[in-house]
Amino acid sequence: MMLPATAFSLLPVKLLNLDHVGIAVTDLEAALDGYQARYGVGPLYREVVEAQGVEEAMIPVGGSFVQLLQPLAADTPVGRFLEKRGEGLHHVAFMVASIEIALEHLHQQGARLIDESPRPGGRGARIAFVHPADLGGTLIELVELPG
Ligand code: CO
Repeated sequence: MMLPATAFSLLPVKLLNLDHVGIAVTDLEAALDGYQARYGVGPLYREVVEAQGVEEAMIPVGGSFVQLLQPLAADTPVGRFLEKRGEGLHHVAFMVASIEIALEHLHQQGARLIDESPRPGGRGARIAFVHPADLGGTLIELVELPG
């Protein structure tokens, strides 16, 4: 069903920003060197996120980030992605004000969720993933940053 433009502000899931695009890489150092050499940009944050099985680096670009992800082991989601698909775009992440409200709304919509409840992400954020088969073949991450 198409909603009139005026109805969008009434939806409980308001996407506040395209927070980041997540890119799977096999060698984080090499990828960071490449971004620095090609585009003159470097990471603002870099951290190991055990809950996701990755080391990640966040490169600020405008109001968003490029998130480079190197798996900590082969038997992690990003490790399996690299094995199957090789390096490349892994997910897009939207910022929301409340991840619980967003997940509840998506659940009511019948969305195919990977995470029924939030889990810890980088930057102290809480995150949840929506399955790529749900919409447009794209893995979507919802991000709620700490207040
Ligand atoms: Co991400």
